[in-house]
Amino acid sequence: MRPQDIILRKRDGFELTEEEIDFMVMGYTFNKIPDYQMSSFLMAIYFRGMTDDEIYYLTKSMLNSGDIITFDEIEGLKVDKHSTGGVGDKTTFVVGSILAASGINVCKMSGRGLGYTGGTIDKLESIPGFNANLNEEEFIDIVKKNKFSIIGQTKNIALADKKIYALRDVTATVASIPLIASSIMSKKLAIKTDLISLDIKVGNGAFMKDLNEARLLAKTMIKIGKKFNRKVISTLTSMDENLGYAIGNSLEIIEAIDTLKGKGPIDFYELCIQISANTIYELGLTKTLEDALELAKEKIYNGSAFNHFKEMVLLQGGNISYIDNPTLFEKPKYIIPLYSKEEGYVSLIDTKSLGLASMMLGAGRVSLGDNINHMVGLKFYPKIGDYIKKGDLISEIYSDANDNNILDLVNNSYKLTKEKTDFKLILDVLS
Ligand code: URA
Repeated sequence: MRPQDIILRKRDGFELTEEEIDFMVMGYTFNKIPDYQMSSFLMAIYFRGMTDDEIYYLTKSMLNSGDIITFDEIEGLKVDKHSTGGVGDKTTFVVGSILAASGINVCKMSGRGLGYTGGTIDKLESIPGFNANLNEEEFIDIVKKNKFSIIGQTKNIALADKKIYALRDVTATVASIPLIASSIMSKKLAIKTDLISLDIKVGNGAFMKDLNEARLLAKTMIKIGKKFNRKVISTLTSMDENLGYAIGNSLEIIEAIDTLKGKGPIDFYELCIQISANTIYELGLTKTLEDALELAKEKIYNGSAFNHFKEMVLLQGGNISYIDNPTLFEKPKYIIPLYSKEEGYVSLIDTKSLGLASMMLGAGRVSLGDNINHMVGLKFYPKIGDYIKKGDLISEIYSDANDNNILDLVNNSYKLTKEKTDFKLILDVLS
């Protein structure tokens, strides 16, 4: 087999065989095929798409290029939850705690943040002492005790995806449904759980801008799951506004704690309840979705979800006095309020700009080696459809420097109009 022949077949619209796809994936992963041939292959896929069988073979090859983790030692139902990346997205902390309180093991391996959406591990590391660098044995021990643990990735999962994703990033081949679906699923399938619960973000702050495209992505991932005998549920949720108010590491942890105490922003609370309930119902733990919604709410109001979060922090070395009393979290030099100069209904929020503002303040990384500042970020209060009056508080910028560019970016990130615009946070649920 020669790479150029396979590229040519894909370019001309032929269906590739399992052997051809595996040859390309393994050849590239283990340095036998150069970047220029893989780039060309990816671009051919971008334009030609892939059949269901091709997507399955691609996922299988990427999955088998790395380690597989079974967690056989953990008894009971196991769930992995994954978000495709959102601004202010701290859902994992609340959903994981609710599911653990409902008797489900949540075995979560997460990445560090890159770009404007922030990383789960970075957020947790804003809690003094919290250790996400546990080995697998320690991780399993904590899940056995608490049903919920979040750590950084310990093994080389889907090695091929790491290399191919980096190449896609610089060759304009990220936005391809077969490539995105196989990339995400190769990593999710590498960890053996009973259900993969996906939160697919759609809107101006997400990489999927269009609901129909996002539905197609969700359906493609569900189909991949079926081929591997794995259950997948996808909740499609809007990223046309930031989730909750807080964007930034410790700010998001504090908001998650507030929500676990029943005092969080309503949109964020409702999303967490819905994703938890979808997961509980899909696992067959309740007869109806309504029962699952009630169960999820009860886990917040009886404090058991909060206790699972606090116990995870304790078992992973974090200082739980910060969880009991979030005012202990250190604050940056400045908290700069921004007030509205106009009035009207909020009709548009440029969510991506809010994420970028937080990153520029130091809450996120531009490159993987960058240090981050856990204290900085922002709170952005308006929601689409809200009526804003002159002088209303729009945002509070948590900053170590008084940078006018960032204030301008936040000030220009929303639009007020005379007409009220409708907004829906939960757009669809597919399984
Ligand atoms: N996230 C992934 O892991 N892969 C993609 O291709 C896109 C988003």
